[in-house]
Amino acid sequence: MGSANDGHIVAAVDIGTTKVCTVIAEIKENEINVIGTGWEENKGVSKGNVVNIADTSEAIRKSLQKAEQMASVKVNSVVASVSGKNIAGIKGHGMTSLSHSKQKEITEIDKDRAIEGATSVPMSHDMEVLHVIPTQYIVDSQDEIKNPIGMTGLKLEVDAYIITGSVTAIDNVKKVISKAGYSTEDIVLQSIASSEAVLYPDEKDIGVLLVDIGGGTTDLALYQKDALKFVKVIPVGGNLITSDLVTLLQTTKTNAEEIKKKYGIVFPEDAAEDEMIDVPDMGSNKVTQVSRRQLAVYIQARVRELVEFVRIELEKEGIDKGMYSGGVVVTGGTAQLNGIEKMLREQMNVRARVGVPIKEKIVGLYDIVSQPEYSTAVGLVGYFVNESGLNNHFLQKKSGDSIWQIIKNLISEYI
Ligand SMILES: Nc1ncnc2c1ncn2[C@@H]1O[C@H](COP(=O)(O)OP(=O)(O)OP(=O)(O)O)[C@@H](O)[C@H]1O
Ligand SMILES: [Mg+2]
Repeated sequence: MGSANDGHIVAAVDIGTTKVCTVIAEIKENEINVIGTGWEENKGVSKGNVVNIADTSEAIRKSLQKAEQMASVKVNSVVASVSGKNIAGIKGHGMTSLSHSKQKEITEIDKDRAIEGATSVPMSHDMEVLHVIPTQYIVDSQDEIKNPIGMTGLKLEVDAYIITGSVTAIDNVKKVISKAGYSTEDIVLQSIASSEAVLYPDEKDIGVLLVDIGGGTTDLALYQKDALKFVKVIPVGGNLITSDLVTLLQTTKTNAEEIKKKYGIVFPEDAAEDEMIDVPDMGSNKVTQVSRRQLAVYIQARVRELVEFVRIELEKEGIDKGMYSGGVVVTGGTAQLNGIEKMLREQMNVRARVGVPIKEKIVGLYDIVSQPEYSTAVGLVGYFVNESGLNNHFLQKKSGDSIWQIIKNLISEYI
């Protein structure tokens, strides 16, 4: 762990439909050193939204506790993910006059004023702004400016992508964290967090579509010219494949889930013609058999439909392939399904790859977090580090190794 005591700690919880995944990292010179992870099954979230406060807060508490024990730290506040079908992205435009500042350079205040103008988009009272992401600044007639600070002009404009979420859904995330005994540092859209962990800067520049297929949602994020252009949450995910298998194989959910993970493939030709799989019957000791190729036929139908949903969402928005010529990056637990990237490649006719947290960004425990299910949690840490600019005010100081040390530190803060 090195000279850990001068590092800062960031704790992230990905509150997913199937699990709560925690990553605790120590941040030093922009390096993410993962020092603790926690994983807890979650039954309190449906299709990305918290539907049971008690169950979800208990899963958060246990997941965080495991990560804290592994990291030998106690954290107070966390960065959390949010998803769900109410998430919406709207284009906003803001403007501020600079005439008062004759030949004076554009400052952070001017920038903030323009951004604030961009957030005044019409939205219903049950929605709130989650993220405001500037896509370009315009100073007088010069556009495509990434950062206008220091430039001079008469008028500063900004184009921004505004992401809104349901007030209730966001409140529920804060509530489950508070009930688990922590405070909320920040709430970040799941697809933005996953993008942070798995996309390369070059991909974001030429255009790329992130597809995070979890258990209950498929989250899309499209980047081009290094800016977020589109997000969408489709309220279906890998759990649908499992429930299909329950019906088609007449087995329990646990067995279906296990069969899917162990033998699931998207293309029948990837299995030997004679390969058979044991299927324990529902409610008896009988075991039947299904060919692995037949299993693939069942799975393929649902995966084909999922990819079709993605295609339809892009079409509705008028997004053509030219906007994501860097291809599709699929992550989330369902990205582990053998053949899924091939299906995306074939149906969408673009380059496709499976995305896992990028190694160069991480030191420590990479073996654990290098799975597609960890993309969101790792990305939450990365996103927070970038946004806060490693501002000491936002980050928690590491609190020593023992409970006694933690208490001593707490006491010393008050005397
Ligand atoms: N090896 C595998 N093959 C196929 N599917 C898998 C595999 N491993 C995990 N999955 C599926 O991935 C899904 C869980 O993914 P993930 O952990 O990303 O979801 P989540 O974040 O909890 O949910 P969501 O993001 O939808 O709210 C489950 O449907 C699970 O069955
Ligand atoms: Mg997820």
